[in-house]
Amino acid sequence: MTPLPKATPLPKAELHLHIEGTLEPELAFVLAERNGIDLPYATPEQLRSAYAFSDLQSFLDLYYRLTAVLRTEQDFADLAEAYLVRAAGQGVRHAEIFFDPQAHTSRGVDIGTVVRGLAQALDHSEERHGVSTRLILSFLRDLPAEDAMRTLDEARPYLDRISAVGLDSAEVGHPPAKFAEVYAAARAAGLRLVAHAGEEGPPGYIAEALDVLGVERIDHGIRCLEDEDLVARLVAEQIPLTVCPFSNVRLRCVDRLEDHPLPAMLAAGLLVTVSSDDPSYFGGYVEDNYQGLRTALGLTDEQLRQLARNSILASFVDEPRRERLLAELAAHVAPPHRPEA
Ligand code: ADE
Ligand code: ZN
Repeated sequence: MTPLPKATPLPKAELHLHIEGTLEPELAFVLAERNGIDLPYATPEQLRSAYAFSDLQSFLDLYYRLTAVLRTEQDFADLAEAYLVRAAGQGVRHAEIFFDPQAHTSRGVDIGTVVRGLAQALDHSEERHGVSTRLILSFLRDLPAEDAMRTLDEARPYLDRISAVGLDSAEVGHPPAKFAEVYAAARAAGLRLVAHAGEEGPPGYIAEALDVLGVERIDHGIRCLEDEDLVARLVAEQIPLTVCPFSNVRLRCVDRLEDHPLPAMLAAGLLVTVSSDDPSYFGGYVEDNYQGLRTALGLTDEQLRQLARNSILASFVDEPRRERLLAELAAHVAPPHRPEA
């Protein structure tokens, strides 16, 4: 049989990606060695085998512990460059990248080191990899709101490089309203607003993020399905949800990929997008998530194309680039599928 041409992934935007969650074990070992840090694992394989989580907190414990290897501008530049190379190979044409300054400043690493390091890679990304980027400063919601406000103030010299603020880390018990003042200050500084809500936390947190914080997009949001009125509102207002299927399974928010509610969310008319969250930890990057949805849930080419289109529509790109990306997607030819033998 003649081989089929290699499928090129759909051009898409990745809107929910924590740069610290792209730290592959091999790079963690390189950076640990470079910075004279001892990792409590003998090999990258041994570290990878520790990636078994019972819930969000069990993941966050390891995620924050491993950030210790990131110390210098070069470390952050290497981390971001490695992600951008992989992202380009997965069809990502635009990436909106979270970073967690408090995970670094709490260890004595200056926020300027983080932003300048990431910017070294991001500044060349469009030209080198065809991936435009935005940075989203994410506050750790399990720390006091005063800490978040101080972080926003520390970020002020770098706001020309930061497009938005977000809210992540342990959700339950840390409702969005805790950050009302910080979000008001971020809005006044001209930043766009997003927040994680409805990952492990209740649907009420989604409504609160919209009403009290004034966010434009909800990260995760899968628990909206528990509240019919909320779903109706999210549909009516076409609030984008950045859903991360592999993450939801690995963090036990959903039992198996086959049980993921994404098809129900699409059927309800929600503006669903798909992202990878912390791809090094959750078993795949964004195109791997798309293909997982095809295999486990039977999503069609048309549905996958809709997800890619939604990602471009929900992104913070400027309008000329949005038009270019939509045109590129429209021109993308789906690879032929070999019929099942
Ligand atoms: N930080 C990194 N990944 C996260 C997730 N999935 N939820 C909350 N905080 C995070
Ligand atoms: Zn996330």
